Amino acid sequence: MAQSPYLAPGFYDRALAQGRHRDIVGGRWEETANYQMECLLEEGLQPGHHLLDIGCGSLRLGHMAVPYLDPSHYWGTDASAALMLRGYEVELSDKSRLPQGQLVEDESFAFPGIPDLIDHAIAWGVFTHLPPEALPPALENIRRAFPRLQKLLLTVFLAPEDATGSHRQIDGVVTHPGRPPWHRRQSAVEAEAHAAGFTLNWREKWLPRGQRLAVLVPA
Ligand SMILES: C[S@@+](CC[C@H](N)C(=O)[O-])C[C@H]1O[C@@H](n2cnc3c(N)ncnc32)[C@H](O)[C@@H]1O
Repeated sequence: MAQSPYLAPGFYDRALAQGRHRDIVGGRWEETANYQMECLLEEGLQPGHHLLDIGCGSLRLGHMAVPYLDPSHYWGTDASAALMLRGYEVELSDKSRLPQGQLVEDESFAFPGIPDLIDHAIAWGVFTHLPPEALPPALENIRRAFPRLQKLLLTVFLAPEDATGSHRQIDGVVTHPGRPPWHRRQSAVEAEAHAAGFTLNWREKWLPRGQRLAVLVPA
């Protein structure tokens, strides 16, 4: 396992062949989807908003957000089109509310074909699996691509500023500075958000696995 478990050759094919589309986004399906919806609603999401779910996987959030939002107001991106498609087929009860073309394969956070209508975005459990250098260009792309963005919800693992090695999160998950699951210093995430043109506020809310929620607002 190098930089991300998702990059292991054949990872998606093998897991999908075994019917494990829920497991590979972390399992805890309803619980985590509920947390995601709760966070979005607390941050002011309304049915008429346009939501981008970055690294949406098999639609763990999508299976609740799509019925909540007005039809066609949800977009998802992920490194794996096959994973999103499995979620679309298996987890979406009313497919008429989401054109399949709004699930876009994108592993470089370039957001091809995602309209500039997006006013809310969420990246949950995505940068926890990617090395630190992935975040700054992604934030810059988000800031540039979506001029109407009001809020970006981002989860990360944090470690104390002076930590040098692995760190046990409050939920028991052990995170690392140099391999997945990755943790970051709070000050570094804040600096990267500011450099990309956002102000960042941490929320104290407890999240599964001890992730922390940052809410970024265009400065
Ligand atoms: C822990 S899962 C979380 C999925 C989803 N956000 C959720 O909460 O259900 C991480 C997701 O990030 C996706 N991913 C990993 N690397 C990525 C990249 N470079 N670009 C986009 N998605 C990526 C994976 O395919 C996977 O769906």
